[in-house]
Amino acid sequence: MSTDLTPTHRGQAGPVDLNDPQLTQFDVLTEGARRDDIEIVHYEPPFPVPGTRAERRITRFVATLFLLAGLAATVFLVVYIWWPWEYELGNGASKFYTPLLGITLGVSLLAIGVGILTWGKKLLPHEVAIQDRHDGASSAEDRKITGGTLAYMADELGVKRRPLLGVSLLAGLAPVAAVAAAPLIGGMIRDPHENNQLATTGWAPTETAGGATQLIRLTREDGSPIRPEDVSAGGQMTVFPGIAGGHTNQYADSSALLIHLRVDDAQQARDNNEAVGKSDYMWGSYIAYSKICTHAGCPASLYEQQTNRLLCPCHQSQFLITDNAKPIFGPASRRLPQLPISVDDEGFFVATSDYTEIVGPDFWERP
Ligand code: FES
Repeated sequence: MSTDLTPTHRGQAGPVDLNDPQLTQFDVLTEGARRDDIEIVHYEPPFPVPGTRAERRITRFVATLFLLAGLAATVFLVVYIWWPWEYELGNGASKFYTPLLGITLGVSLLAIGVGILTWGKKLLPHEVAIQDRHDGASSAEDRKITGGTLAYMADELGVKRRPLLGVSLLAGLAPVAAVAAAPLIGGMIRDPHENNQLATTGWAPTETAGGATQLIRLTREDGSPIRPEDVSAGGQMTVFPGIAGGHTNQYADSSALLIHLRVDDAQQARDNNEAVGKSDYMWGSYIAYSKICTHAGCPASLYEQQTNRLLCPCHQSQFLITDNAKPIFGPASRRLPQLPISVDDEGFFVATSDYTEIVGPDFWERP
């Protein structure tokens, strides 16, 4: 049933006295419309008789959606903070971490969206108004009218008449808002920098039972250690930390490229190493760099011995091995981290320390 509009509502009467205590909010609304040359041509409350079964059914539906949004956002927070998130090999619970975050946040936002749309379409009055647009600042009276209009609209939202909607909207929106704060809260509970785990790879020296420092050997994929004579001049070899699982995905950030430079190139590399305080990073003419491209993490392993360039096949970044693996072409913007190496008493290559820079793509901050 549409409302029978008075001539005032249609913008045809003169100005009304806004200080008249008898004025209803709807009178103020329509007076504002009249002064703005707005013609309300159709006005129809969806439920002229409040509290019908149909209205209550829709109210409950909207409230359910808001509460569902709040529940899903709460589950998001719980998962974000307490679910095992560190990557594990196999079918561990960490596999579900990201999907659960996506599903719960998606359900939450969808429920809020559908709830607000349903509220607007089914519970708000249906109105058609026509307005001529004009320029200029608003007068004090116009601002008063705007205030009255907003108050009227707040009433029309029906929160006073349907308190369930207000409560459920608050209960739904509060956890959704908390989701925005989740990274801060989660960062305080689960510190990703704890034990410096982002900066630690399989090359970190270990401690023996007697308390001595044990340097990690450079090994092939089959675990066999490497002697200098195993790599000919101008040659290169992919090496892994000589620890249990060192060649597996568990230590995917550790693989390095051991390169045997020719004498002149080695001297140039040594000079450039010294210039950046890495005078003890090479052993003889041997030098080792992380294989993980600093652009997007592909294995950078195409070594061109004539030019001493290391090429990453993914996006063609090139690194100059004789100049601290400086990127000289392509999208990579950071040098490859250098692995400090030496040879132990038994003649096998060892890493004298872990990498001193963060391995991999640019999104990791540098130490
Ligand atoms: S991952 Fe190496 S260039 Fe993009």
